[in-house]
Amino acid sequence: MPRDAPKMSDRIALSSPAVVARAAQHLRTGELVAFPTETVYGLGADARNPNAVHRIFAAKGRPANHPVIVHIAEMHDVEAWAREFPEGARRLAAAFWPGPLTLIVPRAAQVDDTVTGGQDSVGLRMPSHPVARQLLTAFAALGGSGIAAPSANRFGHVSPTTAQHVAADLGDAVAMILDGGACDVGIESTIVAFTSANPVLLRPGGVSVDELIRVLGAAPRVPDANAPRAPGTLASHYAPRTPARIIPAESLTREIARTGGSAAVLARTITRPGEFAGTWIGAPISAHAYAHDLYASLRALDSVGSAIILVEDVPEDSAWLAVRDRLVRATQQGTDS
Ligand code: TXA
Ligand code: MG
Repeated sequence: MPRDAPKMSDRIALSSPAVVARAAQHLRTGELVAFPTETVYGLGADARNPNAVHRIFAAKGRPANHPVIVHIAEMHDVEAWAREFPEGARRLAAAFWPGPLTLIVPRAAQVDDTVTGGQDSVGLRMPSHPVARQLLTAFAALGGSGIAAPSANRFGHVSPTTAQHVAADLGDAVAMILDGGACDVGIESTIVAFTSANPVLLRPGGVSVDELIRVLGAAPRVPDANAPRAPGTLASHYAPRTPARIIPAESLTREIARTGGSAAVLARTITRPGEFAGTWIGAPISAHAYAHDLYASLRALDSVGSAIILVEDVPEDSAWLAVRDRLVRATQQGTDS
């Protein structure tokens, strides 16, 4: 029996205005709603309701001190959540919102500790997915403000890029899963923190570092010991349950032979050896298309019950930074998943 076989879930609802309105009602009454964004599916709760946010942690099996991103509908919503919105954050928001970018900024006094993980900052993102925007608008019409939402997966597991992935991971923990099809970007948002003198890149993602540099005029720093905690940066995260390894292209065929057919393979440039009878996915050549398919491919390879997943290495250049980051984390068998 495949471990990740998508369960048919009666919670999945194709989004329509009436369905989105019902989802907003669920949020208002403190329930959880999973919804599509352009990056991955989010597990949403009313960010002003600590009990509702607490249910996110219970559903995911996530430690309570991990902050969650607040999703907002409009630029003026920033004022409700941040006490300060530094110039660099303003410029990035103007360039990339709505879109796959999260900005960590000093929190407003009334933001609850369940959202911030007790830190003095809050993560804000204005998503571009039409269903996410409709949900935020419907929620605002009911008097709601932001929607707190981590990725809608079990803690440490591969993020969901379809409604079926959410159902497989979280099933009955949610009141509703809004189905908006497969996510465009396919990996999580880029996270930039504006909580010290210089911007810090906490997680590469849907907005590339080259794009950030174009707007900021300089590369954001990489985290040091003083940077805010971001659990998405834990060693073993975004991980399939099957052990996985990254293999240089030139060694892949040899490694497959060595594992005697017990591997499941995510290749990119290498073609399937004629004698290989296991599961084989040929990933797209471009970084964007590769990212779009990555989590669905990892889930598919994870579900076949092979002893190991072999992933052909990807290019070194900056366009691949976010994908490489996720592959490295997916192949690390840490203690924190
Ligand atoms: O693309 C995304 O960002 C998706 C969609 C649903 O928006 N969300 C997402 O959330 O990936 P999550 O919780 O899986 O990852 C968000 C990361 C976590 O590592 C969290 O610790 C970090 O952002 N984060 C959130 N607020 C923070 C804060 N105030 N300071 C530092 N890190 C923060
Ligand atoms: Mg996550």
